Amino acid sequence: MSESNMPQVQVVLGGQWGDEGKGKLIDILAEKYDVVARATGGANAGHTVYIKTASGEVKKFIFHLMPSGILQKNTTCIVGNGVVVHLPTLLEEMQVLEENEIDYKGRLFISNRAQILFEYHKIIDGIQEERKGKSKVGTTLRGIGPAYTDKMSRIGIRMADLLDIDTFEDKLKQNVEILQNMYGKFEYDLNAEFEKYKELKEKFEPMITDTAILINKSIHDKKNVLVEGANGMLLDIDHGTYPYVTSSNSTIGGVVSGLGLPATRINSNIGIMKAYVTRVGAGPFPTELIGEFGDRIREAGGEYGSTTGRPRRCGWFDAFLSQYSIMINGFTGINLTKLDVLDKLETIKVAIKYKIDGKEINYFPATLEELQKVEPEYMEIEGWMEDTTNAKTFEDLPEKCKAYVNKLEELMQCPINYIGVGQRRDQMIEKF
Ligand code: GDP
Ligand code: IMO
Ligand code: MG
Repeated sequence: MSESNMPQVQVVLGGQWGDEGKGKLIDILAEKYDVVARATGGANAGHTVYIKTASGEVKKFIFHLMPSGILQKNTTCIVGNGVVVHLPTLLEEMQVLEENEIDYKGRLFISNRAQILFEYHKIIDGIQEERKGKSKVGTTLRGIGPAYTDKMSRIGIRMADLLDIDTFEDKLKQNVEILQNMYGKFEYDLNAEFEKYKELKEKFEPMITDTAILINKSIHDKKNVLVEGANGMLLDIDHGTYPYVTSSNSTIGGVVSGLGLPATRINSNIGIMKAYVTRVGAGPFPTELIGEFGDRIREAGGEYGSTTGRPRRCGWFDAFLSQYSIMINGFTGINLTKLDVLDKLETIKVAIKYKIDGKEINYFPATLEELQKVEPEYMEIEGWMEDTTNAKTFEDLPEKCKAYVNKLEELMQCPINYIGVGQRRDQMIEKF
């Protein structure tokens, strides 16, 4: 496997607002990788993978914390230090694997430095959203923001702390006390949580380790490492559409700090971008389509959240936003996904410029006020009006469809190396 022609250390990141189809590419590439690691985010992520099981039946998996590479039976999977981990969710995912006779034992590891996400983080997520009133972020209510807040406030509890159950209890009590002083005496059963964690400790102890050593040793031993990004570029806490973002760095920086993976070791970084754009939750979305076209794309693409089931907002492909995403992440290639979803559209638009008060701008605005004023300038492309779901090579695609892909590549100035034309593993065209 190490002799494969795949880049030794490859990263896959969401290039838009999440849900671009990261899970599918990770699952495909994982066949050629020894290690698959999640670096950031938590159970706000929902990564969908469709595989054919031993019985020949097509089965859908949605992973929230479990690396999507787990379905390839030879991978070692890592949940890195940058992830906020809700152990009961991970346990549920392990149970789903067991039910499907997928053996994960001995090949799943969690960083001893990863923060633990407790039930009260979810409660506080709800309180914070409530307090924001009209400016709700529309979070997944999975406790992500509050868990990262604890980490940055230096009151968080990490996996390594769980291993010493006596001091763990004190830390838990202290943490809850601090948070109840801040947010009021919210209803929460500390004893029940502690009892649950005593059991979880037994289950997870063998998996908790220094994963930075594991990754760096793997690289040293010439093994291949694949990093599975979560969320997406525009949800990044620094570079995204702040404050309508998640609470971690979902761009390339988060990979480096979230795994203890030196930047100089990364050989390749694939950005996943849908052939249009979607967003779940509130916040600016310059190319959003409200009305018939948006509805058509949502239905054709099954655009409902993998984590919360919420309808995703849909819009035209935004080449300006993509250029920004490529600049921040340094993508070496793109996986254009869900091209098939556009099969029945007579005309397709692509945003090529951003204008404010009629004047072109050459930066992605930092404030909501400025973003609200953005008027994208579009180019129109004729739709191909043919089914693409059976295409196996780029040459198999209709001429007009190829022209669309070539146009996006030209606008982004970045090679499109993979093209998704359906949900299954075999519906991915390679174009190198
Ligand atoms: P992720 O969070 O980036 O892994 O993406 P999600 O799993 O949340 O959402 C992507 C959805 O699109 C899933 O339902 C995938 O099965 C589906 N999908 C991925 N690639 C393609 C594709 O090329 N065509 C179609 N039609 N669906 C796709
Ligand atoms: P994957 O990995 C889509 C969005 C939420 C909300 C904002 C903040 O599946 O692509 P949070 O719960 O993180 O505090 O919510 O970020 N969000 C996602 N949207 N896909 C995701 O992950 C997301 N993770 C967070 O909808 O708008
Ligand atoms: Mg998702």
